[in-house]
Amino acid sequence: MILNIETKLSEYDIVIEKNILSFVGDYISKLLKEKSMSVKKIFIVTDERVDSIYGLRLEESLIKNDFEIKKYVIKEGEASKNILALTEIYSEMADFSMTRTDMIIAFGGGVVGDLAGFAASSYLRGIKYIQLPTTLLAQVDSSIGGKTAIDISQGKNLVGSFYNPYLVVIDPTLLETLDIRQLRNGMAEVIKYALIKDRNMYDMLMKIENKRHLFEKLDEIIYRSCSIKKEIVENDQFDRGERMILNFGHTIGHAIESHYKFKKYLHGEAVAIGMLRISELAFKKGLLEEKTVKDVKNILNKFSLPSQDDISNKELIKYIKNDKKNFGNKIKVVILKEVGRVELLDRDIEFFN
Ligand SMILES: NC(=O)c1ccc[n+]([C@@H]2O[C@H](COP(=O)([O-])OP(=O)(O)OC[C@H]3O[C@@H](n4cnc5c(N)ncnc54)[C@H](O)[C@@H]3O)[C@@H](O)[C@H]2O)c1
Repeated sequence: MILNIETKLSEYDIVIEKNILSFVGDYISKLLKEKSMSVKKIFIVTDERVDSIYGLRLEESLIKNDFEIKKYVIKEGEASKNILALTEIYSEMADFSMTRTDMIIAFGGGVVGDLAGFAASSYLRGIKYIQLPTTLLAQVDSSIGGKTAIDISQGKNLVGSFYNPYLVVIDPTLLETLDIRQLRNGMAEVIKYALIKDRNMYDMLMKIENKRHLFEKLDEIIYRSCSIKKEIVENDQFDRGERMILNFGHTIGHAIESHYKFKKYLHGEAVAIGMLRISELAFKKGLLEEKTVKDVKNILNKFSLPSQDDISNKELIKYIKNDKKNFGNKIKVVILKEVGRVELLDRDIEFFN
């Protein structure tokens, strides 16, 4: 399955295919030939866990196609998305004599994707990069849309750029080794897409019986999720309008993550709580029907995602005020009117009280 994304910045394909990892070198090589482009060197950025499970398969597939490769392996986890790793990547690429016609492959979850994407956007003022996402969250969300970033001590994702990949290659079979909590973490974003844009996907998800059944449906789930993100990003590459609906549940989710210093919940788990809480708030203010709140709760429960936390909305407001996405006291609130339909409202921060 192939989706093509066309934005103001550039155009690229998202290829979704089971087991494509084993022949990704052939795929890239063929694509470059079709475009009469020559790439000699490929710099792989990955993390320790992904490298230990899949590193060899990727390398063999590239070497077989005569690419010269070098690899930079980070420790797994958010702490690696930092300026130190970035400068090491620059140095390693320079030592490898990478030129503007060479390329990076981001092989891992969102941490690797964001870091490698930012390196690609800034090295030699921009070189090509391919996203080869290996977590569900990265396959349906972070690898698409061209947001790249690193964290600094003052906050997450504070330094970054909008820079689209040359290609996104998604192999759903890689998710078989993902631990269940990480899989659910990605499901939170899938559920978000269903809630904001796709009633049919919501119904399909509600019929999933078990993990095996989920894996049978994963190609379709990934394809539909990517299609929704594609549509939204094409209309709003720079996050100034429609793209904000992707923040459904995220304002409260980010506040919860900050309150617990990113220790208690994974991002998707905090967003799950955020999606239910904003829906409950909107219901109390008469903006939606109680059934919609139940629909949100039911699907979160179905995928064993958390939906409640003891922290009060009052306590969360100070974090909401500090969120980089909010301007002063005004805030864009994404409200789910019913499954498949959202509305973007301008409110002041007291809305969350
Ligand atoms: N750029 C964007 O638009 C965007 C959107 C959402 C999130 N993000 C960023 O994404 C990051 C989170 O990404 P994530 O949730 O993928 O986390 P992650 O990259 O830390 O990966 C989670 C864990 O899964 C492991 N893993 C990855 N693939 C695996 C596989 N196939 N099998 C077994 N283990 C595997 C990793 O080693 C890691 O331990 C955050 O930094 C966030 O800011 C970016």
